[in-house]
Amino acid sequence: MKTPILVTGGTGTLGRLVVPRLLEKGSEIRVLTRTPKPAADGVSYVVGDLASGAGAEAAVEGVGTIVHLAGSQKGDDVKARHLMAAAAKAGAEHVVYISVVGADRTPVKSGVDRAMFGYVEAKRLAEEIVAGSGVPYSTLRATQFHELIFTTLQTMAKLPVVPAPAGVKAQPIAADEVAERLVELALGEPQGLVPDFGGPRIYTFADLARSYLKATGRRRPILPMPAPGGAARAFRNGANLTPQRAIGHQTWEEFLSARRSAG
Ligand SMILES: NC(=O)c1ccc[n+]([C@@H]2O[C@H](COP(=O)([O-])OP(=O)(O)OC[C@H]3O[C@@H](n4cnc5c(N)ncnc54)[C@H](OP(=O)(O)O)[C@@H]3O)[C@@H](O)[C@H]2O)c1
Repeated sequence: MKTPILVTGGTGTLGRLVVPRLLEKGSEIRVLTRTPKPAADGVSYVVGDLASGAGAEAAVEGVGTIVHLAGSQKGDDVKARHLMAAAAKAGAEHVVYISVVGADRTPVKSGVDRAMFGYVEAKRLAEEIVAGSGVPYSTLRATQFHELIFTTLQTMAKLPVVPAPAGVKAQPIAADEVAERLVELALGEPQGLVPDFGGPRIYTFADLARSYLKATGRRRPILPMPAPGGAARAFRNGANLTPQRAIGHQTWEEFLSARRSAG
């Protein structure tokens, strides 16, 4: 009998692209979410909160593969700890984890680093928790999604000036392409840490802000903001980039024009 695949974060930007792909491949899907939802379109929902661990044991029961996408600005290490303890206890066969490019080479040492890059540190710790859990795993590090950069710029463009971290670049990628790769990993054998997945081009934040403003018909000055600390220095040196793995297809410009056509 086929066992269901558990998708944590199945309701998020990435998860909403992963779940239908897995369904298309004939998988039975269970989604862990903090908000109760009735089963629909071949997906069942289990209520749980990985920050506290509530519901984790019920979510992993009888599951073979877990695609762990649940994430937020803070505490992804804690979420991973709760999920992986339950997964190991239940004898899960494979966990696929999504991390970020640069998680392993962004030193987060000071309070200033932690305030700005605590997210990256939590992703690194979560990677270690997954790898040390005893559950066979595949971890993929991706660069930032077009969708995240777009919503970040949407928020920043509400200010009279758009702040852009000076000297920092990004290599945005379509979440859809990351979803496709994750499904391939979920349906294959555990591979440990797999090669990075990066977008096709690298841009300064100021460039991204400029093209966003142009595409959305706004006029705002862009203010380069110096960022202090060792983690910011690592980013300025390209820790969050993977130029050798610029294998995504959709460019930021194509994403912007698709958003514009979609209204
Ligand atoms: N966005 C990027 O640029 C990027 C780049 C590389 C890697 N990633 C990683 O990709 C993953 C998905 O990102 P995304 O952009 O799709 O995020 P998102 O749209 O913000 O969605 C977050 C998801 O996590 C779930 N979640 C959050 N806190 C939870 C908790 N305490 N317990 C259980 N579920 C929780 C939410 O589920 P409910 O609200 O339904 O509970 C939601 O489905 C994250 O792990 C992120 O670190 C993102």
